[in-house]
Amino acid sequence: MADIKKVGVLGAGLMGHGIAQVTATAGYDVVLREVDDATLEKGIGRIEKQLARAVEKGKSSQEDADAIRGRIHGTTDYADLADCDLVIEAITESLERKLEMWRAVDPIVKPEAIFATNTSSLAVIDQAAATTRPDRFIGLHYFNPAQVMKLTEVVRAVTTSDEAFQTGIDFATAQGKLATPTRDTAGFIVNRLLVPYMLDAIRAYEEGVGSVSEIDEAMKAGAGHPMGPLALSDFVGLDTLGSICDVLWDEFRERRFAQPPTLRKMLSAGWYGRKNGMGFYDYSGDAPVVNPGV
Ligand code: 3HC
Repeated sequence: MADIKKVGVLGAGLMGHGIAQVTATAGYDVVLREVDDATLEKGIGRIEKQLARAVEKGKSSQEDADAIRGRIHGTTDYADLADCDLVIEAITESLERKLEMWRAVDPIVKPEAIFATNTSSLAVIDQAAATTRPDRFIGLHYFNPAQVMKLTEVVRAVTTSDEAFQTGIDFATAQGKLATPTRDTAGFIVNRLLVPYMLDAIRAYEEGVGSVSEIDEAMKAGAGHPMGPLALSDFVGLDTLGSICDVLWDEFRERRFAQPPTLRKMLSAGWYGRKNGMGFYDYSGDAPVVNPGV
């Protein structure tokens, strides 16, 4: 299997900063790339805060936290990715933007390196085919928060070689994840099942089955979920949820994957959930309260 030592992570947002942190924690050198210094500093700031919290809680020594931080090199320059053995993209969920990014990165990174996408729903083959290494292209799908959630789906595109796929499995396992193989089908395993559940919760709310908090509290107390489905939608990001719905709808044309009107209206209002402070809940105060506008 390919020997992975240095890993590039493209995007330091909600998923990218977490992927960079778990990768550095597993002992790999990480090059974390963002579009500008301010966005990069924000992502690295989140990592530093979590490392500091782990030290405060006695879950990590200061020495280990410093070593993890020391393995993460932030950059805004694609050239710094040149000698990475694996490059994982975690940029915005837009095929157009991902292809534009791969077209810039592919000629720079050494030819034997493996590329991976953290897409939540787009077909891996559509990105693989746009590079000069479709045999060395896989999906590595992490879950939010990447530092905590135990699963990584390892996606095999039709062009993926056995060696690249096995490298993906070994890499995710080395990060302490349950590396679950899945085929390159929209939504893979988890989002195929989880997204219609979140959409059904929105429909149940629209139909007056329960209020926002009643639906959430019911699923926590009745099904043992750590978060209710509407809080989870806010947590995933309503914009991300909307993009995943659109991909699943395009692929399957089934009503269960279509955006419910409430979601569509919330997106038009610019309510993207926790990430910008407003979704099914308003996050501007000390504790979230139900958004009266929903
Ligand atoms: N980053 C890093 N660590 C975090 C974190 C974050 N954003 N949020 C929580 N944690 C850590 C805490 O530090 C704490 O660590 P500790 O046990 O070492 O002290 C631990 O997680 C538990 O956190 P809290 O006590 O603060 O809170 P909870 O017990 O309520 O757990 C949660 C928070 C882990 C987010 C839990 O509510 C949960 O599991 N929610 C469901 C998350 C989920 O379903 N994610 C998948 C979404 S789907 C997806 O990502 C796919 C994509 O394609 C859309």
